[in-house]
Amino acid sequence: MQRPETIKVNVSEPSVTVSLASEKADRSYPIYIDKDLLSNAQLLGSLLGERSVCLVTNDTLSELYLDRVRAVLGADRKVSVVILADGEQYKTLTAYDQVLTAALEERHERSTVFIALGGGVVGDITGFAAATFLRGADFIQMPTTLLAQVDSSVGGKTGINHAMGKNLIGAFHQPIAVVCDTATLETLGDREFSAGVAEVIKYGLIADKDFFRFLIDNAVRLKNRDPEVLAYTIARCCEIKADVVSRDEREGGIRAILNLGHTFGHAIEKEQGFGQWLHGEAVAAGMVMATKISVARGSISSDVLDDLLLFLQCFDLPCEPPSSMTVEVFLSAMQGDKKVQSGRIRYILLSSLGDAAVVGDVSESEIAACL
Ligand SMILES: NC(=O)c1ccc[n+]([C@@H]2O[C@H](COP(=O)([O-])OP(=O)(O)OC[C@H]3O[C@@H](n4cnc5c(N)ncnc54)[C@H](O)[C@@H]3O)[C@@H](O)[C@H]2O)c1
Repeated sequence: MQRPETIKVNVSEPSVTVSLASEKADRSYPIYIDKDLLSNAQLLGSLLGERSVCLVTNDTLSELYLDRVRAVLGADRKVSVVILADGEQYKTLTAYDQVLTAALEERHERSTVFIALGGGVVGDITGFAAATFLRGADFIQMPTTLLAQVDSSVGGKTGINHAMGKNLIGAFHQPIAVVCDTATLETLGDREFSAGVAEVIKYGLIADKDFFRFLIDNAVRLKNRDPEVLAYTIARCCEIKADVVSRDEREGGIRAILNLGHTFGHAIEKEQGFGQWLHGEAVAAGMVMATKISVARGSISSDVLDDLLLFLQCFDLPCEPPSSMTVEVFLSAMQGDKKVQSGRIRYILLSSLGDAAVVGDVSESEIAACL
């Protein structure tokens, strides 16, 4: 059993590195994980040098953390601030346009660094704006939700929603650094915290059975946001994600396993209306469906499912989709998912505890059986 340990961070020594070295260029980048990093002028100074900044956040986070980050950026630096409306329903072309228009009106150049201060929504929009601003600018992720710290800020998937579905417009664009201030989680609401926990337990299921057991054993400490458990959990998730992304940056293969529960989850989010179910809540219900199918196929024991259900209930996460989600509704919604290939829906199932695989042959009756 791996034990929690305090993650120590200094500027020259990131907690985790995402290795993306190729013959053409080394695009590896550091993930810094520690408390109070938003106030760490030395860290931000070393990442930015004298470069200008376009800082993107939302109207909730700006109240909480904008002054702090603004102060650390210094009075001499050119800094523009874009404040977006808060919510998944605003992860749209309009918000993306708002960021680009502000950057253009304020005459930023390609050397400007975009900073995403917020959860996954701000991170995804800002990353996509950076990917396309003057054909590509650097950006730094400053994730402030658990979900963003363990998942969305790492790996370079950026994008926005379309009325036709989640994240249908976007680009792969890696940040130059991730600055993960664990103290920001103190202001995060319980519902949002739990939504992040859904992605956390996913890593145990797909990649590390010891971590899964650790989470099951430490659910209450995690729920109480015990700093030691939280620091270990965030770092372990980032390590797993960094490892998977390093091996398959553009989801040609292994990276797809990170989508456990997401094919079903995206369908739930879309059908309920973006913002009704939090992303992590939909993933939780989707993950239970995928785990039930894995149990029915004999790949994992029903004990794993039982542990998963108890764990999710501890965080008040949904363990099943809404009753309006029939097999037909699922199939129709999933046909529009990005993961469809040659008209076939791709599912992620567990091959054993700590291992997952992409599967294309889940039948309607298997889906019906887990509703
Ligand atoms: N790019 C990826 O690889 C990837 C992976 C997973 C999810 N996502 C995307 O991430 C999004 C979900 O991200 P999320 O769960 O972070 O949601 P979010 O960004 O909407 O944040 C949730 C809520 O918490 C608030 N908030 C954020 N930090 C806070 C803090 N420290 N204190 C108080 N309030 C705070 C936000 O303002 C918001 O109201 C979805 O759009 C999903 O598609 C992307």
